[in-house]
Amino acid sequence: MYAQVNEYDMALPAIQQKITLNFSYPVHFTEGLFHLQNTLVARLIGAGCESKSKKVLIIIDTGVLRCHKGLISQINAYAKRYSNIITMVDRTMLVPGGEAAKNDSYLIEQVHSLINKVRLSCNSYILAIGGGAVLDMVGYAAATANRGINLIKVPTTVLAQSNSGASINNSVNAFGKKNFLGVMAPPVAVINDFNFLTTLSDEDWRSGIAEAIKVALIKDNDFFNFITTKIDALVSRDINAMQQVIYRCAQLHLAHAATSDGDCPVISSPPLYFGHWAAHKLEQLTYYKLRHGEAVAIGIALDCTYSYILSLLSRLEWQRILNTLQLLGFTVYISELSAGMCNLEDPRCIFQGLEEYSESLGGNLSITLLESIGRGLEVSEVNIAIYREAINLLKNKF
Ligand SMILES: NC(=O)c1ccc[n+]([C@@H]2O[C@H](COP(=O)([O-])OP(=O)(O)OC[C@H]3O[C@@H](n4cnc5c(N)ncnc54)[C@H](O)[C@@H]3O)[C@@H](O)[C@H]2O)c1
Ligand SMILES: [Zn+2]
Repeated sequence: MYAQVNEYDMALPAIQQKITLNFSYPVHFTEGLFHLQNTLVARLIGAGCESKSKKVLIIIDTGVLRCHKGLISQINAYAKRYSNIITMVDRTMLVPGGEAAKNDSYLIEQVHSLINKVRLSCNSYILAIGGGAVLDMVGYAAATANRGINLIKVPTTVLAQSNSGASINNSVNAFGKKNFLGVMAPPVAVINDFNFLTTLSDEDWRSGIAEAIKVALIKDNDFFNFITTKIDALVSRDINAMQQVIYRCAQLHLAHAATSDGDCPVISSPPLYFGHWAAHKLEQLTYYKLRHGEAVAIGIALDCTYSYILSLLSRLEWQRILNTLQLLGFTVYISELSAGMCNLEDPRCIFQGLEEYSESLGGNLSITLLESIGRGLEVSEVNIAIYREAINLLKNKF
């Protein structure tokens, strides 16, 4: 039998150190970010130390550049106008947009290599312009180089402006798993320029609305009502309606992030992953052909249907939610939901997503269900047979 405390432990007691980190960063809303009269970027980079021009590396999503052909010359002119604050290093780096940005580890290496080549330090800045995928990848690369380079994120999609752009999560996919590699690192600032949204495809315009519906359903009944009054406007691409949705959605996501206990933000903030256990698996099962927001819409439909079958959610509210998703143009069922659902060992089985999701939460399953519109409910166990019933209901009814 070993003694409970060995002699070395007795000699010097362990030092217990608690470190509390406080992050604070602004999320700005603007139009015409690089118009010479728009001083926002210059003010953000110049803040704190006005005496010396800062090194800035620009990284742009090629999907954005394709639709905003004058962007690079506009940025160059802007940097020239504010050369006392901004020193552009190297050429602007272009990276492929969409999930390709998160699936290719070589891209991270290229960003690291460029940071090394142009000698960015903790006084330098990376300004990343793009959709959520590019921002996730650049955020990961920036946070892991030279103990972290200051990052200004310029989200250019609805989803990224309303949610991911303002997040401190920076993750990329690896080993066939969504967001397997990641780091929590706050940006210095987020700048939402609504002008970018005008060039989104209809699918990417719609996709981001899923995150707004998600957060409305679990946190804010009034916001859900608001979205339902704006369905026609959103479908016809009314930018004012979208701005209102993005603003409230960003507010709710940021407020939630601020209330997590700080010990482990991933584990302490599962409600914002409502609908996501199935969504992440569906993205993987469709080889990322399904957009993140499209997958989230299906994940929401599934978890709402499960909540309805369990009699947590009323029939009326369940139908209202599914109608809203469909009126916005979302599909609520795809065949990948049921392809392997009867055999838990089948690699196509959607329920493998539950285990992968639980793994990402540190081994503790925590699924958000819905008690009513605006009120989520956390559960730590689910019934697969009832989930199968929910999938069949979605398949046959919608
Ligand atoms: N970090 C987080 O907390 C968090 C939260 C939610 C989602 N995400 C991640 O965000 C990603 C999805 O992001 P997304 O919905 O922004 O899509 P996306 O980044 O995949 O971009 C979709 C497409 O739109 C193009 N694009 C971007 N901006 C454009 C513009 N202004 N005009 C025309 N085309 C444009 C891109 O090139 C790409 O082809 C997923 O990888 C998801 O996991 C991260
Ligand atoms: Zn999401």
